[in-house]
Amino acid sequence: MGAVRRSTVAALAALAALLLLLLARLPPPARPHSPPPASANRQVPLSAVHTSPTPITNRTTPARITTTRRPSSSPPQPKPPSIAAAASQPSKPAPLAPADPSQPRPILTGEVYVAGHERPHPELCPALGAKLRLVILITSAPSHRAARDAIRLTWGHYAARSDVALAFVLGAPPAALRPAVEAEDALYNDMIVGRSIDSYSNMTLKTLSMLEWIDTYCPRAPRLLKTDDDMFINVPRLLDFATTHGRTNASLTIWGKVIKKSLPKRTTRSKYYVSPVQFPGRVFPDFATGPAYLMTADAVRPLLAAAPRERYLRLEDVFVTGVLASKLGIARRHVTEFYNKKLALHPCAVQRAISIHMVRYHEQFDLWRKLLDGKTKCT
Ligand SMILES: *[C@@H]1O[C@H](CO)[C@@H](O)[C@H](O)[C@H]1NC(C)=O
Ligand SMILES: *[C@@H]1O[C@H](CO)[C@@H](O)[C@H](O)[C@H]1NC(C)=O
Ligand SMILES: *[C@@H]1O[C@H](CO)[C@@H](O)[C@H](O)[C@H]1NC(C)=O
Repeated sequence: MGAVRRSTVAALAALAALLLLLLARLPPPARPHSPPPASANRQVPLSAVHTSPTPITNRTTPARITTTRRPSSSPPQPKPPSIAAAASQPSKPAPLAPADPSQPRPILTGEVYVAGHERPHPELCPALGAKLRLVILITSAPSHRAARDAIRLTWGHYAARSDVALAFVLGAPPAALRPAVEAEDALYNDMIVGRSIDSYSNMTLKTLSMLEWIDTYCPRAPRLLKTDDDMFINVPRLLDFATTHGRTNASLTIWGKVIKKSLPKRTTRSKYYVSPVQFPGRVFPDFATGPAYLMTADAVRPLLAAAPRERYLRLEDVFVTGVLASKLGIARRHVTEFYNKKLALHPCAVQRAISIHMVRYHEQFDLWRKLLDGKTKCT
């Protein structure tokens, strides 16, 4: 009798142990009030980006566009600050609440971006860009007068063409520089000034200001080149590139110097430090480096619409051409001629290049001469 009871007890104990083991292996039940997985937390596997030819738009929340479209024949109207509005919609659940409450809350781009332009210059894009082949927007800082002048005196001359528009894009200048910026712009009428404060860590906001300007004042231009004021751009090569057979019909594409499988710098001493809160992933999505990249016009609006809900990332190229573009299924294509680096300044190299980085004032003139020098024979 006792033996039977003992074996029953042992069997029951074994059963209980088995049950516990099974329970431990089950996934934890979903918390009833936890928000749906935020799109920013979801890493698109790099392999998918590399190998899948189909857009990956459907994996993420579709970018909702809040702007009201005006008829394209009417002159541009100042529009409501769509980015700010999209970010502050009260009904939206906070999408990025971190699981660990001890972690600082990430800052969403929509919380820091100030929409609109204090100097919009709609006249720089006649007919909303319908007759343009290319818009070149050059990010610049209020104090970089010399760099802007070097561009105006050299490759900026292509702004005289009726199929090219060219302008500098600045953030809101500090009070001390405001008179100088106004005087310079009164002279040249080529400085688009946004409303977010101009600073190095606000570079991403400047790029968004640029996209907003295209979307508002120049939506019919087919191609946008984003570049910086320390770049030399070979505009005729760029125009050839953009209109070469096979590229004219491209859609949702960014061309430039594409960096793959780049790792975020996690040491605080790095100039490019990125905290895990700003970017939780292990590897950056493929991105086109910031000094110069070309995009199809149809990429502008989805990028602009998706930006406010994303975690603010100071690295504008990673943010716009990496994080946002990969989520929206915008292709990034590597093009060797976007050197985006300092180059040995041989005339033939200059004539082949589309973009050259780290150009100082006097070098703009040297490169310009080498570009236009009709004597050099290059094979
Ligand atoms: C993806 O979204 C598009 C529209 O955004 C839709 O037409 C298509 O059917 C969707 N595809 C899948 C697989 O859900
Ligand atoms: C960036 O711009 C925002 C909006 O204008 C401003 O509140 C913030 O202070 C700026 N940041 C820096 C570091 O200048
Ligand atoms: C672009 O598309 C148009 C019409 O869809 C077609 O006629 C043309 O041949 C295409 N051009 C190229 C370069 O593919």
